[in-house]
Amino acid sequence: MPLEQPIIDALVREDLAHLLHPQYYAPDHEAPVIFDHGEGVWLTDVRGRRYIDALASLWNVAVGHGRGELAEAAAGQMRKLAFSNNYVGFSNVPAIELAAKVADLVYDNLEGVFFTNSGSESNEGAFKVARFFWNLRGRPSKVKLIARERAYHGGTLATTAMTGLPVFWKYFGPLSTEIVHTSKPDNLECDCAPNTDGECAHWLEAAILREGPETVAAFIAEPVKGAGGVWTPSADYFRKIREICDRYEVLFIADEVITGFGRTGRWFALERWGVQPDVLSIAKAITSGYVPMGAFIVSGQILDALKSLPSDARFMHAYTNSAHPTAAAVGLRNLRIIEEERLVENAQAMGDRLGDGLRHALGGHAHVTNIRQLGLIAGLSLVEDAETARPFDPTAGVGRRVATHMREQGGVITRFVGDQIVLAPPLIVNGDEVDAIVAAVDAAVAAVTGN
Ligand SMILES: Cc1ncc(COP(=O)(O)O)c(C=O)c1O
Repeated sequence: MPLEQPIIDALVREDLAHLLHPQYYAPDHEAPVIFDHGEGVWLTDVRGRRYIDALASLWNVAVGHGRGELAEAAAGQMRKLAFSNNYVGFSNVPAIELAAKVADLVYDNLEGVFFTNSGSESNEGAFKVARFFWNLRGRPSKVKLIARERAYHGGTLATTAMTGLPVFWKYFGPLSTEIVHTSKPDNLECDCAPNTDGECAHWLEAAILREGPETVAAFIAEPVKGAGGVWTPSADYFRKIREICDRYEVLFIADEVITGFGRTGRWFALERWGVQPDVLSIAKAITSGYVPMGAFIVSGQILDALKSLPSDARFMHAYTNSAHPTAAAVGLRNLRIIEEERLVENAQAMGDRLGDGLRHALGGHAHVTNIRQLGLIAGLSLVEDAETARPFDPTAGVGRRVATHMREQGGVITRFVGDQIVLAPPLIVNGDEVDAIVAAVDAAVAAVTGN
């Protein structure tokens, strides 16, 4: 039942008065969409308006909204044992089962699962474990982390520094000087096929040499840069990254917070290129967002090091809610849904339909360029001139206007990153829903650009 206007007005007033939202900017909340319920790929707001959730909310609602199985899994576990202590000498059944399940699903070389509550905590922990490992190896100078431009890794202080989007740094400095970024090397001559945002693996090599390999603990990368605008890698990028990391003894942390659990049409994105990371960060789709949970998962080599600590050391890293039994029970049930409903395969099929649809509708458009898609994650660039890729004046807010038109006229919700439109619907999306998303993008681009 839609809410009455005076009730909605009161909610908006209270929201503005008290609720500090992520990426807060008060004017964004003067006329908010207030969601009330969801089912499948559909969200309904308090006015009763329905929208297709074309970003799986925040890339996370893999199995779609309104899944009673997950509510039952949470309720059942809460009645039995909602929470218990998982610190020294204690454990719980769902967490043990989920750790074993995750270890089974991820890359063969990964064995030890440390549960967190978010992607930020996963990346923070991944960096800490990398430093810890090098200390155990008697190489305490290996402390730096190299991250990439346009990467997004989270909202803690360290993961803010890892994030390669300067807009996230403003007024939070100084950031750690031991977290550094790749950049295009001067006089780069190579025959690499670049990633869709222009980067190639030699940018990493240049950064390692610039910093000094003996100072670098790890490199972190998302297989597909997500929140930075959806930028896909070239076919040999991650194979080269693996070789470079091995050559300079740098651990490779794969941030699969978005790409993990099927998003790219594989359980984990690097499978596509036969590459294995030393540490894997996950979150989001492990529980489809029904309850918060994440993890970092370490290689057998790192696990062995953690199991044979000197007597004066412990891996003193902990969260009260690590290995939370209720979150683990939801995670187990969620992964069963992904398996039983063959959602990884659906992500590949529907992703290809989405990519084909976008290319067909907008491939030759005067103001659209660089349509990219890998499985069920896609992006496109809105530009002043597609032939030269000359961008729009950023103050024109073209990306924002397209996303707003999609929502208001097309009933499709997604995000924009500057003038990039990004799409990642739930993995359960069907063909008609994909076509409706494409139609909404097409109509919005036409309305906003006049073409
Ligand atoms: C690739 C990536 N890493 C890390 C994070 C941070 O995750 P969280 O917001 O759960 O802390 C995000 C969030 O969007 C992400 O996209």
